[in-house]
Amino acid sequence: MIIHNLHAEKVLDSRGNWTVRAYVNGISGTAPSGASTGTYEAKVIPADKAVAIINTKLQRLVGESFNQIDADIQIETLDGTENFEKIGGNTAIAVSFAVFNAIHNSKKITKEVFPYPLGNVFGGGAHGGTTTFQEFLSLPTQSKSIYEALNANVEFHHRLRDILNRKTKNVGINDEGALTADIDDFKALDIITDIAEDLGCRIGLDVASSEFFSKEKYRYKSLQKTLTPEDQLDFMTETAKKYKLVYLEDPFEENDFKNTQELTKKIGNNCLICGDDLFVTNEKRLQKGITLGATNSLIIKPNQAGTISLAQDTITLAKKNDFIPVVSHRSGETEDSTISRLALFWGAPIIKAGVIDMRISKLNELIHLWNSAETPKMAKLKLNR
Ligand code: PGA
Ligand code: ZN
Repeated sequence: MIIHNLHAEKVLDSRGNWTVRAYVNGISGTAPSGASTGTYEAKVIPADKAVAIINTKLQRLVGESFNQIDADIQIETLDGTENFEKIGGNTAIAVSFAVFNAIHNSKKITKEVFPYPLGNVFGGGAHGGTTTFQEFLSLPTQSKSIYEALNANVEFHHRLRDILNRKTKNVGINDEGALTADIDDFKALDIITDIAEDLGCRIGLDVASSEFFSKEKYRYKSLQKTLTPEDQLDFMTETAKKYKLVYLEDPFEENDFKNTQELTKKIGNNCLICGDDLFVTNEKRLQKGITLGATNSLIIKPNQAGTISLAQDTITLAKKNDFIPVVSHRSGETEDSTISRLALFWGAPIIKAGVIDMRISKLNELIHLWNSAETPKMAKLKLNR
């Protein structure tokens, strides 16, 4: 594809923060942003600066013919640092997304295997809410179509909202459209376990534990307890067993490969132990995790890596080693639905892209792709390993 035209503008995200949108030949890509960001993610620069870089320095891409990899290499070379410290990972991903969308706008995505939506139904932590655990997630493992799966998650959210409205106080919605209320982490798990059983869904947690780890301890404000890493290992093991969790993300802080490895040894047969801040979609960090046997699953957030090609290298390594990839949105989002197309393109069996609010742009894109496919089917989920 020849890049005839490249430009950028500053747009709003779901938190009302400014972000960067790039256009390649009139087709857009927009950078999302995190609240519980990992230390090792690609650097983010102010939106104004990102727009200026695309409208000046990156103009050298105009007039040339590119496939995705070549365009991404140009962007990476222009930056020249490990983690996009010069041009910003947000600048890079906006252009990389726009290139992908411009290439695939004319070429239909012909993949037919669809990811299960992992839906954040209740929340706390850095996204807002009373619980220390950041995300309480529904995975509709029995659904036979994308319609059934999305319907199960929406039904989950609606039932939970009704129960919380009847039984609790201060019901609200947080940054990711997840419900919040004046209850602690266990009460939330009790309530969602009942709903999940009724709907045939499984449940999981994003602990996002780096957010409440300080001075060598996990500090659960909502539960009024402070745990050492050893205690946290026991606590995670017991919680996963008691609530039959099928998914557990970032159970340990972002540098603790060792305890993550221990937990995977203990419960990894029945539960996806997923690394988000631990790996930050980085191939080298994932390789370390694979060598150590830390986790059996990982989050793929393209903006953590900076370009689609870098994220693709990480997901390719994951799949080779039988690590389950979960393509994911960020808590600060826009109507950009590139990750839905990428999840399908990469054959990811799970996508984490919310349940309601503006995140429906990603979910509706999955529906559109489902309806455009000749014989669409849901992915095979290897949950017992
Ligand atoms: P973030 O959170 O986008 O705020 O980093 C999402 C997550 O931790 O999975
Ligand atoms: Zn996470």
